[in-house]
Amino acid sequence: MSSKLIAPSILAADFANLQHDIEMVNSSDADWFHIDIMDGVFVPNISFGMPVLKAISAHAKKLIDVHLMIVDPNRYIKTFANLGANVLTVHYEACTHLHRTLQAIKSEGMQAGVALNPHTNISLLEDTINDIDLVCLMSVNPGFGGQSFIENTYSKVHQLKALIDKKGASTKIEIDGGVTNKNAKQLVDAGADILVAGSYVFNSNNPTETIKDLKTIVNS
Ligand code: DX5
Ligand code: ZN
Repeated sequence: MSSKLIAPSILAADFANLQHDIEMVNSSDADWFHIDIMDGVFVPNISFGMPVLKAISAHAKKLIDVHLMIVDPNRYIKTFANLGANVLTVHYEACTHLHRTLQAIKSEGMQAGVALNPHTNISLLEDTINDIDLVCLMSVNPGFGGQSFIENTYSKVHQLKALIDKKGASTKIEIDGGVTNKNAKQLVDAGADILVAGSYVFNSNNPTETIKDLKTIVNS
């Protein structure tokens, strides 16, 4: 079984000490940096934008996983490639021409991700799953860190895993929102490959240890 990944969400980091938190992730057992970009339109919150990502990229030594919670993400695909994104995830609900968007992301040399809101059915990916490198299942409504995990997510992971297997796809499953040591094991057992964790990591007394614990839990 391939190793399961932990992606700390920088949304929950200390923005006045970003370099400190980036270095913490660099030297931890974490695998990826998860970067949440919100536009105040697709979601009712604004996080941070390009200059901040540029500053993060300058210090980050691990893969950069960018989660775009913005309308019409096509406008910025090249921009995020230039800023160092390795995975670029767009929302299903924000893309009129999802297939075209996926091709555009890949043509910039990035892995293409699709995020699904909690209300969006897995079956809507039937015709694109073979073109998707990563599906990000939102286990909270996007827009804010620190929300509680939606239990229906387990069922969605099972359904998504079944679709991936049925279609012979190599798509990875990422879970985003409310991830803790309480649900991590059940999520990977259901088929998840990557767990995003924001407040659970950064609000803990020892984020390095918390990441280590999560990494141990998901690979045990
Ligand atoms: C929510 C973001 C998440 C968020 C997760 O809209 O997409 O990545 O940072 O934060 P926690 O782990 O605190 O739920
Ligand atoms: Zn996210």
